[in-house]
Amino acid sequence: MPDELNLDFGRIPNHVAIIMDGNGRWAQQRHLPRAAGHKAGMNTVKTITKVASHLGVKVLTLYAFSTENWKRSDSEVSYLMQLPVDFFDTFVPDLVKENVRVNVMGYLDQLPDKTRRAVDQAMADTAESTGMVLNFALNYGGQAEIVSAVQAIAAQVKSNQLSLTDIDTTTVDAALMTASLAPYNNPDLLIRTSGEERISNFLLWQIAYSELDFTERFWPDFTEADLKLAIKHFQQRDRRFGGRKSTNDDD
Ligand code: FPP
Repeated sequence: MPDELNLDFGRIPNHVAIIMDGNGRWAQQRHLPRAAGHKAGMNTVKTITKVASHLGVKVLTLYAFSTENWKRSDSEVSYLMQLPVDFFDTFVPDLVKENVRVNVMGYLDQLPDKTRRAVDQAMADTAESTGMVLNFALNYGGQAEIVSAVQAIAAQVKSNQLSLTDIDTTTVDAALMTASLAPYNNPDLLIRTSGEERISNFLLWQIAYSELDFTERFWPDFTEADLKLAIKHFQQRDRRFGGRKSTNDDD
């Protein structure tokens, strides 16, 4: 594809996170069952993983299943729990070829055995990869993650391994599920598809300074060009992290 956007390849966001929304509406528009939307969404994951890796993204975090998604119908939950099995069954050889390492974060002990086994196997099979990390958030929730981190930090204080006054942002970073992604714990760019403009309990601590990009596109329709456009928007932003503009103006 010609790079008509003129992306600056020296300023690709290191960590891109995506809330993959709109599978259900994509299916509904086509008079298909919701499962068909999730299956199409899985194929988009394959495409976007390769594109992100080729662009030089270091971490791609995808919200695959939230701690709230258990409220969906049994049949939909069951389909969503089968998806990682099918995804890794068919895609791990490509991931190895692409030098992509799989990481999965979330409350994994609550997953069905087959899902748990599939993610463990995928992480083991790609453990030697040194390129992009494909980080799935699976049975993940931002508030639950913060509660778990608070409990872990409190336990360290209680057992005198840590003093109260030593707790700082680094302590919290280290207690969150993104700790293993260091130094790319926090997304530089967060994309949500399908026109919704909500965070939906995703990476609440980690997005403090992320640039947010919302697109109308349903996830199954999200393409290489859409990812590049989101990155272009990112490159047009002026990131100040609470500081001042990088120009010399005095006001
Ligand atoms: C949101 O669309 C999507 C999900 C809850 C599931 C995301 C899963 C995938 C994209 C499949 C890929 C997963 C793996 C593990 C490879 P929605 O169902 O909420 O859509 P709607 O808002 O239009 O109903």
